Amino acid sequence: MQKLSIKGKNKLNGTILISGSKNATLPILAASILAKKVRLTNVPFVKDIFTMLELLKFIGIKIKINNRNKKRYIELKNDEKSIKTLAPYKLVKTMRAGVLVLGSLLTKYKKAKVSLPGGCAIGTRPVDLHLFALKKLGAKIKIKNGYIIAEAKKGLVGGKINFPSISVGATENALLAACGAQGETVISNCAIEPEVIDLIEFLKKLGCKIKISNRKIIVKGIRSIKAQIKHKIIFDRIEAGTYLVAGALLGEKIIIKQVNPEIIKSELNILKKMGIKVLKNRNSITVFKSKSLKKVKISTKPYPGFPTDLQAQFMVLMTQAKGVSKIKENIFENRFMHVPELKRMGAKIEIRNRVASISGPTKLNGAEVMATDLRASVSLVLAGLIAENRTIINRIYHLERGYEFLEKKLKNCKASIKRI
Ligand code: UD1
Repeated sequence: MQKLSIKGKNKLNGTILISGSKNATLPILAASILAKKVRLTNVPFVKDIFTMLELLKFIGIKIKINNRNKKRYIELKNDEKSIKTLAPYKLVKTMRAGVLVLGSLLTKYKKAKVSLPGGCAIGTRPVDLHLFALKKLGAKIKIKNGYIIAEAKKGLVGGKINFPSISVGATENALLAACGAQGETVISNCAIEPEVIDLIEFLKKLGCKIKISNRKIIVKGIRSIKAQIKHKIIFDRIEAGTYLVAGALLGEKIIIKQVNPEIIKSELNILKKMGIKVLKNRNSITVFKSKSLKKVKISTKPYPGFPTDLQAQFMVLMTQAKGVSKIKENIFENRFMHVPELKRMGAKIEIRNRVASISGPTKLNGAEVMATDLRASVSLVLAGLIAENRTIINRIYHLERGYEFLEKKLKNCKASIKRI
């Protein structure tokens, strides 16, 4: 099995081009079931995307991938020939976002059988809110043999979905379902993550009428579907945040390009509070390492709050700040799995309930460590970059699920990182 080997302490210098967002691409791929022909650009070519494409292929969507460097795109065509309304366990178990095909299949074909995704390392991650939304639009749902079996014999009908708590995936499934439903749907207490907004932009191009204000989305189902649409996926704000942390830790000067600083204000505010110099431009951000970092408190929240997906990376930064920094994880109950590994590298971290207290500044020492999930893995990469000696990271397939050209992007900035 491949590992990553990192020799720490190299200063970083250079430019990093941020890829398109994996989490925006996944629901848009699910939405392409509703379309006729779609061309997507700025898609990150990472494992989760290929898993979703495999699922769509199984369903009957025709897929063309153009991998030529600057003109990369993915084309999807639904010619309505031999469509299966099934998402089997083998294709959903490795990637929970597979459950997003439920909304599209049900609304278009009036039935769907989708495997329950099961738990994952960071928490139980149920789908009750997804089902809650679909039931509000008239779906009849049963759970049988590990599958969600959903039906709406006469088609879904617009309705009111007031979520009891905020979920990104459930909001996306509700949007997909509402697009094919008859009449108007009002979704309230919904997620407003930039990836949800990107899905809305895509659905509008398909012909759906959607209005959003505060945490309320009003959807009028599609009357006629546009024959062919093009969409450029939004930048990956989690990848951007990860490299901003790398720059803040070691950057003589790191320039992050292809981003919109307005979208990642909460992350930039934390960096500024810690005393890090960041310069914003329209589509780029420059970050410099600071001599001394100030302690800070972070509480993860739905957007526009601080993202849970950047908590592990910012924790590494906090190991270098003076005093006791704190992170409260409000979204997932088991998202501190990187902590034992960081402690093996010398970090001083204590966890009580959902709060991690990080004392610093602490010198980290290279060690052999184990990646446990996508974002935890990349926090170990960041730790390896600042540690004395060599760090070996096992189970890097987690990284491949979501970070495109990670080694190449870091190597271009003079990091010493290689696959072994
Ligand atoms: C998405 C992101 C993930 C990110 C998360 C939170 C994708 C592909 N993944 O995941 O990277 O960490 O948002 O920003 O976009 N919940 C329920 N019932 C449900 C659904 C969710 O209780 O039916 C709970 C979850 O267990 C969690 C919270 O709601 O505690 C938020 O989860 P959710 O926003 O749904 O995350 P995902 O959409 O799975």
